[in-house]
Amino acid sequence: MLELVIYIFTSILALLLSYLLYERVTSKTNHIPQPWSWPFLKHYPYFVEKDHVKLYADFAEPFRKAGKEFFRVNNLSLPEQVVLLNPEHPKLVLGRPDLFVRSRALNDVIPFFEHGLLNVRGDQHRRQKKLLSQAFTPAMLSKYLAASNKVGNDKIQKWHDLAKQHTDDTIHAPAALIDVLADYTDIAFTVASKSLVYMPEQDYQEFTKALLGVTDLLKDGTFWKVLFAKIPFVKYLPFGTDGARQKSIKMIDTSIRKVIEKKRQMIINSEEGSDDNDLVGICIRGQLDQSKIDETPLTDLEIRDNLVTFLIGAFDTTSSCLTWTTYAIAKHPDIQKKLREEINQVVEDFDNVTYTDIANLKYLDMVIKESLRYYNASIRVGRLAAQDCHIGDTWIPKGQMIKTVFSLFHMNEKTFPEPEKFDPERFREPVKIGSWLAFGYGPYSCIGKKFALNEIKTVLVKVVANFQLSLKNEPKLNRRIKVGLFNEEPIHVLIQPTKRQE
Ligand code: HEM
Repeated sequence: MLELVIYIFTSILALLLSYLLYERVTSKTNHIPQPWSWPFLKHYPYFVEKDHVKLYADFAEPFRKAGKEFFRVNNLSLPEQVVLLNPEHPKLVLGRPDLFVRSRALNDVIPFFEHGLLNVRGDQHRRQKKLLSQAFTPAMLSKYLAASNKVGNDKIQKWHDLAKQHTDDTIHAPAALIDVLADYTDIAFTVASKSLVYMPEQDYQEFTKALLGVTDLLKDGTFWKVLFAKIPFVKYLPFGTDGARQKSIKMIDTSIRKVIEKKRQMIINSEEGSDDNDLVGICIRGQLDQSKIDETPLTDLEIRDNLVTFLIGAFDTTSSCLTWTTYAIAKHPDIQKKLREEINQVVEDFDNVTYTDIANLKYLDMVIKESLRYYNASIRVGRLAAQDCHIGDTWIPKGQMIKTVFSLFHMNEKTFPEPEKFDPERFREPVKIGSWLAFGYGPYSCIGKKFALNEIKTVLVKVVANFQLSLKNEPKLNRRIKVGLFNEEPIHVLIQPTKRQE
């Protein structure tokens, strides 16, 4: 018996050692250090357990102290990542799409991503960005405000109704405890979908059903989806979770194509609601009248994939930013007071926040920027080295995944002194280009930045004007990377109607 135990034990040990030796010999990135990792499981167990922002900070700390410019992380669900530490490097990597291309890892996971802006490269990317940017001109952005105002007003009314029904036992006044993320997700989804395509209500419901189908598909664990995607035959089996997934994908495809066709007919027949006040309308007009812009118009396939891409880009990130900013405002009464003073001074009609109001709300802009620095609604972007190359003096092999983790730069004391202090004043003057990375950097940076900021500002004006915000309990911070960055525990904020509204 003892012999059997010794035999099994030495076999496992031998297997482990040969694996580690094999890795060491075959790895092209041995010259880049890495934190201690589990055999086979690598750094994956840490990602399951720990606050992701803190995890990257803890990983980085010893290497930063030792003056290193990179470290390696492997969390299994993605290719091994080389993580940047030198604050000058994000500009080099994100500013050179010829050398560092976007990874197509999400293509296996998210349906209808393949022909969208977040997945195409080179000339195709440049062409799509030029065409799609027409949906984000100041005139268009100003039109989208109607959706943010309408959806925001409905939610504020709901919050007032809730507050009227409860008396809080600590402040002895009407107030309600709100899980802000749930409501902000609803707002961000509705504003994004209504702005992407404007439709008569019954067709719009079909479109919403399709988009909700996509978000449902994203909800299951990414890790398993990536693993399944890597085993080619599994996704073709007619049973199990992937069978259901394929069925949903078909339903979504049919619905979105129907919506695109309906919009085309509306435009051709000059029906009400057919003017190009949404993203799909602009793309279809581009197909119908090619004289306006010197680029090949988007195909229906590209329009479909961009609808999904824009929704995914828009709603998780926006709801995350709204949640963290509301949390920060509730946590810092002095900042809240200053913000309310500015809002009262600048905005005439809280139910109808205008483009001019937004341009004049300087302090609100600073608070949101600081929230994006401190809490990071989106935390990292990845690129693949298109060829063997150097970053600084370090050799990077072709195909290597390079990660820019924003929090590592947003918390750098040289760029942002006293980084642990939440201080909107640091954005009173413009910061150094490439140091604040919330919306990325370079030609692939966020096309929806202004759309997002307008929506976030419109909603926050209403929230701060209508309610005094506070925290009853501090949630335990355990931030997890999804498309946006979310706390594991819900963030509850106490909303008490402000005097003027009672
Ligand atoms: C607070 C909200 C948002 C944050 C923090 C955010 C963040 C980002 C970041 C960091 C990137 C760069 C990705 C990269 O370099 O690989 C990006 C790209 C992108 N975002 Fe956003 N985003 C937000 C809102 C939105 C909204 C509202 C939309 C759509 C209306 C949107 C659509 C996109 C798209 C399509 C891209 C790809 C751009 C390209 O490839 O040129 N985002 N976003």
